[in-house]
Amino acid sequence: MNLYTQPMLKEGALKDKVAVVTGGGSGLGKAMTKYFLQLGAKVVITSRNLEKLQATAKELEDETGGKVLCVACDVRNWEEVEAMKDAAVKEFGQIDILLNNAAGNFISPTERLTHSAFDSILDIVLKGTKNCTLSIGKYWIDNKIPGTVLNIVTTYAWTGSAYVVPSACAKAGVLAMTRSLAVEWAKYRIRFNAIAPGPFPTKGAWDRLLPGNLQEKFDMRKKVPLRRVGEHQELANLAAYLVSDYSAYMNGEVVTIDGGEWLQGAGEFNMLEEIPQEMWDMLEAMIKAKKSN
Ligand code: HXC
Ligand code: NAP
Repeated sequence: MNLYTQPMLKEGALKDKVAVVTGGGSGLGKAMTKYFLQLGAKVVITSRNLEKLQATAKELEDETGGKVLCVACDVRNWEEVEAMKDAAVKEFGQIDILLNNAAGNFISPTERLTHSAFDSILDIVLKGTKNCTLSIGKYWIDNKIPGTVLNIVTTYAWTGSAYVVPSACAKAGVLAMTRSLAVEWAKYRIRFNAIAPGPFPTKGAWDRLLPGNLQEKFDMRKKVPLRRVGEHQELANLAAYLVSDYSAYMNGEVVTIDGGEWLQGAGEFNMLEEIPQEMWDMLEAMIKAKKSN
């Protein structure tokens, strides 16, 4: 049994906390919601698709015994976000945690994108995160409630990436927001952190980023030094830690959880991984021979 597939935090670590998880009806948002519930939190899950949210809520409530509120809310729309915040407070009395997880993305050469296709990704990821952060942040400030925000970004928030340019621009903006407000709103006892996941298989991401036979053509495991993709529980463990009071002194941090993937792409000589072990004696001899020249 691998420890990283097991729950990590102490029982009750999120007891009496209320978390809003955008995009909580599927994929990684669902996995994090499940673990928050297991740790004692009440969770508001939001997305555009109420039926999907309700199916997820039923499954997770049955599995964990926790309490889930479903609110249909397009994070691009300020009024819908405000209504979602009000519904959450009305149902559970308070909000303590905001997990900005909702996202949109697809691969495309940038010159094929219409201006509005580019906007649709910027709007979901950057504007959506801004809307939820501003709405719930002002509520926290007005009511003197200490809050915690966790933003889900990606490693290409700082490297950039071809073929997902709107997503890269938007995630970079979310990272800037994380670090900026970590400082500005610390006086209100509001913390901000981010997670940059590497490849974690989900239907939402995989169908849009590796459609058709691209999954076989580009085996994501080969891009990762640890030669595997992520397990949802290990991401959920990290997320639960970052929204819990255990991480009370962490503020403005982005934690990468990618098996070393982005660094493998970055290091100048990482391609030498392809050199067979038996060649190293010969290469060493060649290098030492040059030294005497
Ligand atoms: C070119 C495309 C396109 C494609 C959509 N469009 N798909 N253009 N190539 N593959 C264009 C449309 O033609 C339209 O342009 C505009 O984008 C908006 O599309 P709609 O379908 O009208 O928008 P909407 O219904 O709002 O859907 C948003 C969406 C969709 C982003 C396009 O994919 C979605 O709902 N995604 C949500 C879930 C998701 O993406 N999950 C993956 C997150 S993964 P016009 O010109 O007509 O307006 C992730 C991983 C990051 O972020 C890192 C991995 C390592
Ligand atoms: P996913 O299942 O497609 O999750 C995206 C969620 O966002 C969906 O539940 C979707 O729900 C919701 N959403 C999209 N547009 C929305 C909108 N306008 N308003 C409200 N909700 C909206 O994909 P995922 O892989 O779990 O991704 C979750 C997060 O992890 C994203 O931030 C993604 O960028 C990040 N991430 C994922 C990976 C990975 O390998 N999976 C790697 C790095 C980062 P509806 O469609 O029902 O609205």
